[in-house]
Amino acid sequence: MTYLALEGLAKRYGELTVVEDISLNIERGEFISLLGPSGCGKTTTLQMVAGFAEPTRGRLRLEGRDITDVAPEKRGMGIVFQSYALFPHMTVAGNVGFGLEMQGMGRSARADRIAETLDLVRLSGLGDRYPKQLSGGQRQRVAIARALAIRPNVLLLDEPMSNLDAKLREEMHVELRAIQKQLGITTILVTHDQIEAMTMSDRIAVMHGGRIVQVSSPFDAYERPMSPFASSFLGKTNCIAAQITARHASCCQVQLAGLDVRIPHEEHQYPDDINVYIRPEKIRLVSAAESRVSGVVRSRMFLGSHWSVEVDGPLGRLRVNVPNVGDTPAREGDTIYLSWQDEDMRMLAGGTEA
Ligand SMILES: Nc1ncnc2c1ncn2[C@@H]1O[C@H](COP(=O)(O)OP(=O)(O)OP(=O)(O)O)[C@@H](O)[C@H]1O
Ligand SMILES: [Mg+2]
Repeated sequence: MTYLALEGLAKRYGELTVVEDISLNIERGEFISLLGPSGCGKTTTLQMVAGFAEPTRGRLRLEGRDITDVAPEKRGMGIVFQSYALFPHMTVAGNVGFGLEMQGMGRSARADRIAETLDLVRLSGLGDRYPKQLSGGQRQRVAIARALAIRPNVLLLDEPMSNLDAKLREEMHVELRAIQKQLGITTILVTHDQIEAMTMSDRIAVMHGGRIVQVSSPFDAYERPMSPFASSFLGKTNCIAAQITARHASCCQVQLAGLDVRIPHEEHQYPDDINVYIRPEKIRLVSAAESRVSGVVRSRMFLGSHWSVEVDGPLGRLRVNVPNVGDTPAREGDTIYLSWQDEDMRMLAGGTEA
């Protein structure tokens, strides 16, 4: 059964509609991410769920109960804001215990809960410090501990890792996900970081222009994007204009800049003019005899686990990821040969947005 339901939420500021229509059913214990570019309405949506922004239209239900008009502090939700402002004049323990004090929890029960929660985010022993005596990563954890201390029914996280360096961010992804699972807290994470969304979520809702354009597992969001926007926002992709020349039961015959290819499909409603998408990591370097196309290396970049190579050929400029197996691949100006599987190509209607 749905635990938290967002039903047709919209938000207008004067003439400006910033959230058009957001509907989402979230299960108890689920970790769901709202993923989208800056300005697409993620924070606004989260603020409506938290009760800090009033929806212009739509309803919110928690376990079937309409909470649209319930005050934020009565919703029992924990929130980590985009700027996770801690109270600077309060110690770590004071910050973490703040919500408990508001709830009227007694001093000794509060001390126990604070210690337990600091332990959870691995900050035991730092309760007496002030925020300015902590590193950025530690402050971020205090903000998360403060949201968790009240044992919220729903945890709302607005870009909670944005101020951390890449390595710390990765560690926090793993830790936060483990804590969330351990406590079984239903969680909504707002982020524009696709890696963050993919590594932590049960499902990802991809947002664009105040709407959700796709809700799916991280794997499907990446492997089966439903729109050009989702294709290019999640990971890198090559996009090639093409035409369908024949339609069969499970595949289409497609003219791809002079190449005649067969592309499997899941549905039938493609127009003749389509775009074909191929991920850079699906294209392999092969011998001339095995190749679909040849091309000339225009640039190459070393990224540790792989090389990112740009290749100019009959399909235009293709980006190809070549795994780093210890030697250096082709150099600028070299001719190389490329291939990929039929099922690595995806079709979407050409010219459509979002
Ligand atoms: N109080 C407000 N009054 C008017 N416009 C607002 C208000 N709050 C947000 N907006 C506008 O609504 C749009 C969506 O803002 P929102 O903060 O929800 O985006 P976001 O997806 O969280 O972006 P970011 O990734 O940059 O945090 C933006 O164009 C923003 O300027
Ligand atoms: Mg935001």
